[in-house]
Amino acid sequence: MTQKRWTPSSWRGLPALHIPDDYPDAEALTSVESTLKGYPPLVFAGEARRLKQRLGDVALGKAFLLQGGDCAESFKEFHPDNLRDMFRVMMQMAVVLTYGAGQPVVKVGRIAGQFGKPRSSPIEERDGITLPSYRGDNINGMEFSPKSRTPNPKRLLKAYGQSASTLNLLRAFSTGGYANLENIHKWNLGFVEGTKTDQKYKKMADKISDALDFMAACGVTAQNIPQMAQTDYYTSHEGLLLGYEEAMTRIDSTSGRWYDTSAHMLWIGNRTRQLDHAHVEFFRGIENPIAMKVGEGLEPDELMKLLDVLNPSNEPGRMTLIARYGHDKVAKGLPTLARAVKRAGRHVVWSSDPMHGNTIKTASGYKTRPFDNILSEVKTFMQVLHSEGCWPGGVHFEMTGQDVTECLGGSAKMIREEDLSSRYHTHCDPRLNANQALELAFQISEELRSYRKEDAARLAS
Ligand code: PEP
Ligand code: CO
Repeated sequence: MTQKRWTPSSWRGLPALHIPDDYPDAEALTSVESTLKGYPPLVFAGEARRLKQRLGDVALGKAFLLQGGDCAESFKEFHPDNLRDMFRVMMQMAVVLTYGAGQPVVKVGRIAGQFGKPRSSPIEERDGITLPSYRGDNINGMEFSPKSRTPNPKRLLKAYGQSASTLNLLRAFSTGGYANLENIHKWNLGFVEGTKTDQKYKKMADKISDALDFMAACGVTAQNIPQMAQTDYYTSHEGLLLGYEEAMTRIDSTSGRWYDTSAHMLWIGNRTRQLDHAHVEFFRGIENPIAMKVGEGLEPDELMKLLDVLNPSNEPGRMTLIARYGHDKVAKGLPTLARAVKRAGRHVVWSSDPMHGNTIKTASGYKTRPFDNILSEVKTFMQVLHSEGCWPGGVHFEMTGQDVTECLGGSAKMIREEDLSSRYHTHCDPRLNANQALELAFQISEELRSYRKEDAARLAS
């Protein structure tokens, strides 16, 4: 690939998949984009730099990444209670993982900007009527009507506004006392009460509370150690709609470098990571920590070329690779990539998205994901990397703090096929509910704990 000079708009003119080109009024879109250019940044470059450093620790095996949130945020489900519940369940999972891994957990939401979706088909047919597919609330509407399915640029402004208020609340939750470890018992969600996961969580929380009481008696409290009273919570989304991302990209006055201020971290989807296309071009020029989905069909050679373009200086924390193969494919696809990355001495965070390769459709037409397949993919991912001498550094989940019935299974409160219709609310892919998400965190935490013991035993021998 010829490396021409990068600018925030140098992606224009290159092939770009999954970006809508059917806005009826192109000028209206340009006008919205220039309005957005004048709006305040949603995140600050310094915050993105701090996340990069923390991900650098993950790349070096010294921390664990927990990334999660809705498949697609929506205008309809935008509610402070939903944000609070997502935050709560992520805090719970983070504590469970910290406890198991004995390491800090870096928390990154798929939130405050996760709207635009790549779709497998650009059109949808119902009862003989064909319309453009739903592409996310920042582009068109879910309702099946010609008006709603026509892309409307004003939706970008609404998505920006929703992202700003979401971030505002998340900042308050993470620094305003809610995230204080002393509240560990209060993060529990009502509908999880009484389940096996709940009992496990309470037992662990009791132990942590005891430890906090002991430390308080020694004079160590949230009053004198501010880290105990707050947490770092970062935002991320798929950087799909490059017009929006370009509008949010600004020069940081401290470093003189370009940062995409729409989120701390952005990722390139599995369907838009072609070496000579627009998305890779845009991503190479922003300084944020970035991620890329990797899956079936990606060969080591191509991955190495992508890493050369996206992280030429091999900076730890810059690049996260999110493996999304499917429970029955990961053992075949991942080892060659892991070996190639390790042989080349490339610093990456390896993370597992066990959602997107495990989607099935039930006979009654629901898109769902079996919990056991999700768990099996994460475990295989971890085992593959561990046996290749690499750190299985993180997970990437589609999840919610709500009591939805979208993914099948889970032992705390089993979701059966006939239950799916009762609370199936997703605007795109099926999400883990809070129970299932917490249960996964416990399973992963046990796996991490066993690696920790194995490594300690090896060092001692
Ligand atoms: C997603 O993360 O919602 C997504 C579309 O994933 P992928 O790019 O892996 O298909
Ligand atoms: Co999805």
